[in-house]
Amino acid sequence: MEDIGRIVQDIHDKIHADADWGIPAQYISELAGVASDQFAISVVTADGRCWSAGRSRQPFSIQSISKVFALIATLGRIGEQLWTRVGREPTRTAFDSIMLLESDGGRPPNPFVNAGAIVTTDALLSGREPSQALAEILGLIREMAETDEIYINDRVAESERRTGERNKAIAHYLASHGNLSNEPDLTLGTYFHQCAIEMTTEQLAMSGRALAGLDGVPRTISALHAKRANALMLTCGHYDASGEFAFQVGLPGKSGVGGGILLIAPRTASIAIWSPGLNGYGNSHAGTRAAAMLAKATGWSVF
Ligand code: DON
Repeated sequence: MEDIGRIVQDIHDKIHADADWGIPAQYISELAGVASDQFAISVVTADGRCWSAGRSRQPFSIQSISKVFALIATLGRIGEQLWTRVGREPTRTAFDSIMLLESDGGRPPNPFVNAGAIVTTDALLSGREPSQALAEILGLIREMAETDEIYINDRVAESERRTGERNKAIAHYLASHGNLSNEPDLTLGTYFHQCAIEMTTEQLAMSGRALAGLDGVPRTISALHAKRANALMLTCGHYDASGEFAFQVGLPGKSGVGGGILLIAPRTASIAIWSPGLNGYGNSHAGTRAAAMLAKATGWSVF
C-alpha cells in the first residue's frame, strides 16, 4: 500500500507538468474566478489510511457531487417511491438540458442531471422546511466523513440563485408537469444550498468509504442504497461523458462543476480528486485525466 503514496504523488507531479487545466465554471460567478492551476487527490484504502497529494485540505464547492448524498438521503426517507418521479437511464444530453423533459412528460432521466436532482431534493423537502432538508444532507455527509467541519458556502448558493436561469426554467417546467411538490423557488433554494457544500478531498474520500463498502467503516447507509448509488454513478455520474469515463477509468464516479470527482473502487478504496478547470462536459479536465492515471497505475476497475 506504500505504493499508493507514490502513485498519488506521481499523478500530482504529472498533472502540474502538463499544466493543461481547462476553465472553471463561468455560469456561477463565485466559481468563475477560482484559479484553475490547482490540484488535489486523496485515496482512503481498505486499511483506513488516507494518502494525499496537492491541496487536499483546501475546501472546494462539491456542486453536483452533493446529488449522491441527496439521493441516499431521499431513498432513506421515501424509498423506491422516488423512481415514479425520476428515471435511471444515462443521457446523451448535457447536465443542464431541458430537452428530455418534454418528450418524457416531465420525468427526468436520472437523479444526477439537474432536472433529476431538483426532483430528488424536492422529494426530500416535502413536508418540512429547507433548513431541515439541508440539515439532513449535511448531517449525512458529516457522519459519512466522520467530521463536523463541513459547511455550506452561502455566497456560492446566492450567486447561483442570481444567475441560475437554466435551473429556474427546469424547475418551472417540472412544476408544469406536476413533478414538483413545493414552490419552485423553495426547492431551487434548497438545491442551490446543497450544491454549495464545501469539502476537501480528504473529507470527500472519507465520506465515500461507506459507498465503497470498506471493512470497519460505520454503517451510515444501507448496502442497497450504496449499490443503487454506485450503479447510477457508473452509468450517469459524468452525464454525457459517462460512457467515456467508464471506458477510461472503469469505476463509479460523480463529478461536480466545482471541479471535484468522487470515485469508488468497491471494497478497495474511496478516492476524491479536485481541479477546478472543466472540460466541455462540465467535468474536471485535469481531474478526469488523474482518475484515468490512477486506474491505470493501480489496476482498480469494476470490470
Ligand atoms: O445546478 C447546477 O448547475 C450546479 N449547481 C451543479 C451542476 C454540476 O455540478 C454539474 N457537474 N458537473
